[in-house]
Amino acid sequence: MLTNDTPLTGSNLLQRFQALDGFLLEHQALWRPKPFTVQALPWERAHPELAAWLRSRSLEDAEAAHNAPELLHAPTPFPALAGTAARLSCIGQLPAHAFAALPHRLTVDVPGRKLQQIAAFASRLNFTQPPQHWLDWCAGKGHLGRALAQDGTPLLSLELDPQLVQDGQRMSNRLALQAQHRQQDVLATGTDEHLHPEHTAIALHACGDLHVRLLQLASTRRCRQLAVAPCCYNRIGSEHYQPLSSAAKASPLSLSRDDLRLPQAETVTAGARVRRQRDTSMAWRLGFDLLQREVRHCDEYLPTPAVSPTWLDKPFADYCRHLANLKGLNLPAAIDWPHWEAQGWQRLAHVRNLELVRGLFRRPMELWLLLDRALFLEEQGYRATLGAFCASQVTPRNLLLLAERI
Ligand SMILES: C[S@@+](CC[C@H](N)C(=O)[O-])C[C@H]1O[C@@H](n2cnc3c(N)ncnc32)[C@H](O)[C@@H]1O
Repeated sequence: MLTNDTPLTGSNLLQRFQALDGFLLEHQALWRPKPFTVQALPWERAHPELAAWLRSRSLEDAEAAHNAPELLHAPTPFPALAGTAARLSCIGQLPAHAFAALPHRLTVDVPGRKLQQIAAFASRLNFTQPPQHWLDWCAGKGHLGRALAQDGTPLLSLELDPQLVQDGQRMSNRLALQAQHRQQDVLATGTDEHLHPEHTAIALHACGDLHVRLLQLASTRRCRQLAVAPCCYNRIGSEHYQPLSSAAKASPLSLSRDDLRLPQAETVTAGARVRRQRDTSMAWRLGFDLLQREVRHCDEYLPTPAVSPTWLDKPFADYCRHLANLKGLNLPAAIDWPHWEAQGWQRLAHVRNLELVRGLFRRPMELWLLLDRALFLEEQGYRATLGAFCASQVTPRNLLLLAERI
């Protein structure tokens, strides 16, 4: 959903960052523990009415509330938290300019949703100076860069996967664009040689370390403009988040790689079949977890490796025996399988409903991370603006950071 608010820029960046920082710090007890691995959450003792209400609800109830937990009429303190979370997550859309409709020959190879993202991203690139040379970062086949380079502006596209580089170069050649698609691991030393002051760097959904690397290299190489829509904040090499800006470095908030999965926990795009498979996989995993707690006489979550989805087509008993084998666990011969499977589904309903509390902190954490990036660029001599570039139905990672050297 896009809001009527304005994008964040100037002193609002730090103001909002500090408000979010305080909110996340104050309520760590609510968003850190994960219902999937912890049977009774520590906060349930402090808020028994809310916990009981959430635990009485069905899986379908949880599903219906998942993408907008702030609209749920749950007992206190849920409404107050939801109100603050919504207020602090409020961010307006970036102003759009008319972007020339993408010609069919350019879009024929681009999947529908990606095309919508590209058109929206491109229409929000309002810089004071016209871009001179695009640099598409972790470009895949380079569809975004190609869409922008159709007006004759040169393009350098960097991508790790040689097949995507080759396909991208072929598509650009077919359109006679001034585009160079290079195979490059952007994390490798020497990548900085590809960045130049005349570059406008663009990155659509480059994961964790990949887009952070762009912010660091582009600022040291003094690239004139950047447009970055990050995703997968948890895809980082370090165990803990490494803050970029002085404000985030000064904050006591420490985020583990696991905490950083929270902003991604929104699944607006999954279809019914995928959802059903995901639910079965989780219910069975939870059923197995309850069973192993009893067998081992140990009330602790036992991490298990991911297994092929084909195991979900077999009986629940086979699935559990397989996991037990992988963990070297001896199961008794007589097990009431329907009981444990039903327990797994019941626990999934509890988990999903309790997760709605964590869900309130999803967008605040994402915005905190983006503001850290925006403040970092400001410190590096850029004017940064943060706003939405499309509706969340087009992509839940719909925030775009624009920056231009002052
Ligand atoms: C989520 S895709 C986004 C692709 C494209 N920007 C888009 O929106 O369609 C991320 C891309 O990053 C590339 N990638 C992953 N690691 C990389 C690295 N170390 N160096 C360069 N590219 C990398 C992947 O191959 C993939 O094409």
